Amino acid sequence: MADAEIIDGKVFAQKLRSRITSATEIIKQKYNSTPGLAVVLVGEDPASEVYVRNKGKQTTECGMVSFEHKLTDEVSQSELLDLIQKLNNDESVDGILVQLPLPEHIDPQAVLDAINPEKDVDGFHVVNAGKLATGGDALVPCTPLGCLLMLKDYFGDLSGKNAVVVGRSNIVGKPMAALLTRENCTVTIAHSRTKDLPSVCRSADILIAAVGKAEMVEEDWVSEKTVVIDVGINRIPAPERGEGKMRLVGDVAFDEVKRKAKAITPVPGGVGPMTIAVLLRNTIEAACRRRGWDLPDL
Ligand code: GUN
Repeated sequence: MADAEIIDGKVFAQKLRSRITSATEIIKQKYNSTPGLAVVLVGEDPASEVYVRNKGKQTTECGMVSFEHKLTDEVSQSELLDLIQKLNNDESVDGILVQLPLPEHIDPQAVLDAINPEKDVDGFHVVNAGKLATGGDALVPCTPLGCLLMLKDYFGDLSGKNAVVVGRSNIVGKPMAALLTRENCTVTIAHSRTKDLPSVCRSADILIAAVGKAEMVEEDWVSEKTVVIDVGINRIPAPERGEGKMRLVGDVAFDEVKRKAKAITPVPGGVGPMTIAVLLRNTIEAACRRRGWDLPDL
């Protein structure tokens, strides 16, 4: 039996960024304006700082304008809300992203809901979540949209596929299920209380693992027809690399599952690289919708 095909997210994200660069160029020539993305970082979480730096770098590499707002973790909720109002009213800002997690004293939903839904490139605002659920033209959360783009590239038409989404978070599981339903998949949302989870997963043509549990999906959870998309990013001890060393793994036991499944995304190098590329895609889409521009091909 052949090993699973490896779906390379780095290559896919690179191709998407090159389409975004072309789209940005078309917009500049046609409308004499450049889409802008504002990222707000509160505090000094090292992982968030790396993430925000990468976002800024990729935004400018694609020809867009990057605005970065770094606030100390002592900032009050009302000061943060004031900044968001300023960004909402700033014509040169097309997308606003507030990096999560926020410090304990700030209510994340209050902050996310203060963002103008037309600029909500994370797709976390209740208006965008509602539009996605009811079939409107929503801005869609980046990670599930990245998974969908890879699946459409792999399969072409997704109609009639059995899709199992493990995990029901607002950021991945729920929007993922809505997107797959929109593509005419038969969708099952599974979670920690699902009975006989391995056998539910085995029935999947498409299996999305988004639970945040290291290497939970094992070889007997998939069949030879399953295409596995691993959304998990978990840090686990790696004593084989030296004392105190860690390594990144997904929610899928990659080495064993790849011996059986039809195709699989690795961690790292699968879904992860897609997220920022999709954020930039959402920024172009937000700019075009809000400003009434024609949306170039993406
Ligand atoms: N923190 C980690 N991933 C994300 C993301 O996709 N969006 C935001 N806003 N914060 C994050």
